[in-house]
Amino acid sequence: MIAESISNPYLPFKAEIIEIRDEVKGLRAIKTFRLKVVDGDRFDYKPGHGCLVSVFGRGESWFTIANSPTRPDIEFSVLKTGKVTTKLHEMKVGDLVGLRGPHGRPFPVDEWKGMNILTVGGGIGQTPLRSVYQYVMDNYSDYGELTVVYGARTSKDLVYRDELMQMIEDGYNVHLSIDIPEEDWEHFVGYVPDNLKRLKPEPENTIAIICGPPIMITISLRVLKELGFREEQVYTTLERRMKCGIGKCGRCRLESKYVCKDGPVFRYDELSTLLEKA
Ligand code: FES
Repeated sequence: MIAESISNPYLPFKAEIIEIRDEVKGLRAIKTFRLKVVDGDRFDYKPGHGCLVSVFGRGESWFTIANSPTRPDIEFSVLKTGKVTTKLHEMKVGDLVGLRGPHGRPFPVDEWKGMNILTVGGGIGQTPLRSVYQYVMDNYSDYGELTVVYGARTSKDLVYRDELMQMIEDGYNVHLSIDIPEEDWEHFVGYVPDNLKRLKPEPENTIAIICGPPIMITISLRVLKELGFREEQVYTTLERRMKCGIGKCGRCRLESKYVCKDGPVFRYDELSTLLEKA
């Protein structure tokens, strides 16, 4: 069956939901689904890869894989927004979904060996970054210093909050923020770019990866440039509505590129050229 799925990219693997976690306590429901492929071996993927997840009878949606290939099984964190994601949120452990992928260009984690890694995330944008920092943590001797900067509107909206708090306890360089002050909050209050400005990460031998709301990305990029980062040192992943996922239908096209095939990961110097033309 796995060979058949590889030869026909439209044919999904079947995967069983083996765990569901409520990720946030805020108003915007986000659940993490842990899946095990049941009709073949696990996927061979890299941080940044995406998949089309199908809910049989409802349709398909694109999600970036939320965990590192160094961890067991495959995880997706899903914000409840439309038909497919609403149905996914109603599903139970033991239910089956379809998976097509992994698709696209992932983060070049092998090229980054020996470098410091800085992730800058906001809200559900932390999902692809989690795959990156887990990968770096699990291959720590290959990389320099890891710094995780992450924020959300309130403490209830922080995705992977317990994991990140545990990372702080374990001595990792994790800097959390919330936009609105709260009693008992011991970390930074303010927007993610303000936290970044305060932390002043060194650009030398550092790769920065930014994911989150567009305004957060724009201002964070500006802050990084002020700190001396060049666009060649900064990466992001693009969100587009995907259909075929393999560069055939044109739905995700951005100028000469297909986000599903040429991305979703882009380096900022490539992206600014594309956006100038668009
Ligand atoms: S989703 Fe069809 S070309 Fe990208």
